[in-house]
Amino acid sequence: SQLSTVSITVVGASGDLAKKKIFPALFALYYEGHLPEHFTIFGFARSKMTNEELRTTISSTLTCRIDQRENCADKIDKFLQRCFYHSGQYNSEDSFRQLDIKLKDQEAGRVASRLFYLSIPPNLFVDVARSASRGASATQGWTRVIVEKPFGRDADSSAELTNGLAQYLSEEQIYRIDHYLGKELVENLSVLRFSNLVFEPLWSRQYIRNVQVIFSEDFGTEGRGGYFDNYGIIRDIMQNHLLQMVALFGMEAPVTLDAEDIRNEKVKVLRSMRKLKLEDVVIGQYKSHVKGGVKYPGYGDDPTVPKNSITPTFAAAALFIDNARWDGVPILMKAGKALHTRRAEIRIQFRHVPGNLYKKLFATDLDLATNELVIRVQPDEAIYLKINNKVPGLGLRLDKSNLNLLYSERYNKEIPDSYERLILDAIDGDKRLFIRNDELEAAWGIFTPVLKALEEKRVSPELYPYGSRGPIGAYYLAAKYNVRWGDMG
Ligand code: BG6
Repeated sequence: SQLSTVSITVVGASGDLAKKKIFPALFALYYEGHLPEHFTIFGFARSKMTNEELRTTISSTLTCRIDQRENCADKIDKFLQRCFYHSGQYNSEDSFRQLDIKLKDQEAGRVASRLFYLSIPPNLFVDVARSASRGASATQGWTRVIVEKPFGRDADSSAELTNGLAQYLSEEQIYRIDHYLGKELVENLSVLRFSNLVFEPLWSRQYIRNVQVIFSEDFGTEGRGGYFDNYGIIRDIMQNHLLQMVALFGMEAPVTLDAEDIRNEKVKVLRSMRKLKLEDVVIGQYKSHVKGGVKYPGYGDDPTVPKNSITPTFAAAALFIDNARWDGVPILMKAGKALHTRRAEIRIQFRHVPGNLYKKLFATDLDLATNELVIRVQPDEAIYLKINNKVPGLGLRLDKSNLNLLYSERYNKEIPDSYERLILDAIDGDKRLFIRNDELEAAWGIFTPVLKALEEKRVSPELYPYGSRGPIGAYYLAAKYNVRWGDMG
């Protein structure tokens, strides 16, 4: 058989994502022996740069994080030798034809497949799809394109983008990344549900009282305000990362583990979700706060943020899946920047034990006696179940204890960055962790009306101090549905 090769072109090579995530992920894949034997990496951007300059930039971000094996420097060197740079215009077929010549040169007669990673603002996606597909498609192997959110600002602009890309690429060629799907514990959700007997039978309105999907960061926009202000936290985090977790949490068992079967189930559950209403959303924005003599800047103090912006940096929302399994179960989401801690988790609160014999011991609050299953996506990956237990001793006292699967204790293994997994899947043609166009459409369907209403009514966000637990409104929203946030204790 003829020799084969894969070429990966990072379009937007001088951007932040490329430097922080994509090149390091490519190197980690190479380091671990996951890239094909022969590969070529091209950085593509507008600015003029030599191969050497690109290599210097890349190498400054590469670390041998996996372990400190002696040959690491050597590996970096070999990796960099396979990295090249091409400067061109995003909308120019010609620029991509010139890239094509350079690619062919490196591919040296092998059967070449080509992956384009569009690490550029979405308003350039269609231009690049056009010029790359016309100027630099693979002739024998496959051609695939990775794109990453924001996929539009609402249902209409997203559909426009989908249609624009569809002019030049088939759905099969498009890999839409949601990097949360590449996170270890998010991928594990299906394993937890469908390969253990003890969870799935409880996984419904019959036993689950509410679900909470929580994302918090302990830093603000810090210079990313220009991008962020156009989108806000609902579009940046909820409509994609949190909703994807809900889909995996709530979907029915897929027929098989094939990408189409899984995504069919995800679409079904997303389409069963009620459109979010304005009265079920609370928005907030962080303000400056002085702590320990240090002044933490407010969102409006970020020089990249327009004056008097009302863009939310925090949101809480109550969502519902209107199907037989989830009817009436509140699904609460909370996402915010500049909060007191950095964390992403799913909390599943179970119902009260009927006729609880130990009721008296929880006289003050039966809610405190319910079981809670927590899937902590980051940091300190863990799955734990809160159970009631007798405190050892002669008296009868109960307390809440955790059955705790802490990854760092259980597995002596570095968890790969989500971009490593996703890029490798794209090379392998495995689409299980990528968003299909109908999924995207369903996701926008849930959030578009409320996003429009917030903008039309110019709803002002509730201000919360940098480093706090966010606006008080989030408590009231939860209380409206008889829910108490599990991350507050
Ligand atoms: C990105 C958002 O998608 O996810 C950022 O645009 C956010 O605002 C980031 O900081 C969080 O990702 P992670 O993997 O650090 O939790």
